[in-house]
Amino acid sequence: MHQQVLERPADNMTVSSRHQRLFIPGPTDVADEVLAAQTAPMIGHRSDEFEALFAKCEEQLRSLFYTAARVYILAASGTAFQEAAIRNLVPGRVVSFVNGAFSQRWHDVAVGCDKQVVRVDVPWNTAVKPQQVEAALRDALVAGPVDAITVVHNETSTGVMSPVQEIAAVVRSLSPQTLVLVDAVSSFSGVKIETDAWGLDVVLTSSQKALALPPGLAFAAVSDRALAKAETVSGRGWYFDFVRLEKALKKSTTPATPAISLMRSLGVQLDRIFAEGVEERFARHAWLAERTQRWAVANGFDLMAEDGYRSHTVTTITNTRQISVNRLNAYLARHDMEISNGYGDYKDKAFRIAHMGEVQTGDMDRLFAAMEAYLAESET
Ligand SMILES: Cc1ncc(COP(=O)(O)O)c(C=O)c1O
Repeated sequence: MHQQVLERPADNMTVSSRHQRLFIPGPTDVADEVLAAQTAPMIGHRSDEFEALFAKCEEQLRSLFYTAARVYILAASGTAFQEAAIRNLVPGRVVSFVNGAFSQRWHDVAVGCDKQVVRVDVPWNTAVKPQQVEAALRDALVAGPVDAITVVHNETSTGVMSPVQEIAAVVRSLSPQTLVLVDAVSSFSGVKIETDAWGLDVVLTSSQKALALPPGLAFAAVSDRALAKAETVSGRGWYFDFVRLEKALKKSTTPATPAISLMRSLGVQLDRIFAEGVEERFARHAWLAERTQRWAVANGFDLMAEDGYRSHTVTTITNTRQISVNRLNAYLARHDMEISNGYGDYKDKAFRIAHMGEVQTGDMDRLFAAMEAYLAESET
């Protein structure tokens, strides 16, 4: 665990009408005013009103992605941009780093697109390290050029965060033409990712995680050199074709009908995010992660993710006390809360607590009080 003790931030945003509070790694709770924005009457998607909304959202997203280039917004979920990145940017070979279920999915997407995929397995619960990337890329380059690497910034299945800045730096120095494709589905807007400064070519995310929106929108920051590469690649498809998306973006719209109601909630949510302050938002997520790690250790559990690479948005706790996660969740449900069990093989061996999006310290206090009450009860 990080030694640093962070300062407790004040609770400054709440989800006011609480039904079941979600501490699962997506979908996350959505603030009432953001939900309500979806009920506004429909407008034409080629109208000035819609284009103004789209332009405002894209500009705010560029700021949140720390990019001056562009952010594509689509009616889709994050997996769509995993596939889009492969189809647009990989005519030949891709090196896929797999350290969890979602990085494995990206590998599978590339295989499904009939690409030449070099799979590099890294033990689950550990981060992808720059040294591993350097060694694997060096090996792969022996057989010819590599169009891109894929890496997941925040493996939601294990709660591990990989150092994408350092990874991008080694790729750039070893093979400058290799693009760096990053999945930030469960970290974006909870953790600072400096797309341009770090030299990332695609950073993709979904609406239903730390952005705290309903599912249904996908976003990708795409670098100039990635777009230039896409122009040379055939078989890009239609809906997710970066070149077509770029043309539409210049007119502040999408080639096909956008999800107008979701775009309205995005507009409201981005204003709320900037009103909180992005640095404050990142600090809140870091604090919530540290608070959760401390709670787990203090209550006799272990942390699954390796030290130094623990996620700021979801904590995976090893079930060292061998409690029934199902029974715990049934208890929490009676208190209107829900956590997540371990992923796949870790179903009962671990549980995951997500602390992203709208979650405030007071929410964690309530969750931990309920969990402690359950632990005390189940032991008597
Ligand atoms: C890291 C990561 N990548 C990709 C995905 C897939 O995203 P979506 O369900 O929005 O397609 C998820 C979903 O949980 C995820 O956590």
